[in-house]
Amino acid sequence: MSSKPRTENRFRGVIMPTGSHPAIRRVKRSGVYPSIHGNKLWKSSCLLMDYLNRNRPQHSRSVIDVGCGWGVTGIWCAKTLGAEVTSMDADANVFPFLEATAELNKVETNHMVSRFEKLTTKQLSQYDMLVAADICFWDELVNPVYNMVNRAVKAGVKHILIADPERPTFYEMAERCADKHCADIVGWQTRSPIKASGAIMVIENA
Ligand SMILES: C[S@@+](CC[C@H](N)C(=O)[O-])C[C@H]1O[C@@H](n2cnc3c(N)ncnc32)[C@H](O)[C@@H]1O
Repeated sequence: MSSKPRTENRFRGVIMPTGSHPAIRRVKRSGVYPSIHGNKLWKSSCLLMDYLNRNRPQHSRSVIDVGCGWGVTGIWCAKTLGAEVTSMDADANVFPFLEATAELNKVETNHMVSRFEKLTTKQLSQYDMLVAADICFWDELVNPVYNMVNRAVKAGVKHILIADPERPTFYEMAERCADKHCADIVGWQTRSPIKASGAIMVIENA
């Protein structure tokens, strides 16, 4: 007997489509291909959603999800916290996948095509919370992500959370933030319905 591939998972209240979901397959058929690893939902987003589910942020009216990919963390913030969310990514090709995922969850987020290094302190000052999952995966990303965190702290963003599957490049960035901003680096795991493990860098800047 052949079993059909799973087309979606439900995680902490959000629908996370897999690559076989009809809505995702439709986007792929249109010939859109993300090129900087925004080609699926990465499990570090589960770490963030689970952490935020258990540690509800005090300030979450406006949220930016940087390096959003298909955008599920921001979508969770819109759906669960009622936040006004900006989903930001360097790769414009992630947004059709994000839109399909948001539509399945019956929410909308604002789209911004930009790079970590281009986000100004003024832009960041509009947000209460910055979230990001698995964005520090190359040596060349350590400085841009670290500098973006510095600007977010300066801008008064009240909660800054970056989750990662514990890549050395993430630790290099997060340890620099621990020295400069007293960031916590918290080990985190989820078991069900999706198994994920890693670490979350948390800065409480309220
Ligand atoms: C590993 S994926 C993670 C996507 C999403 N956060 C998730 O958890 O499913 C990394 C994302 O970061 C984006 N990215 C890479 N470099 C970037 C940069 N310099 N500025 C903004 N986004 C970037 C990629 O396009 C990709 O969508």
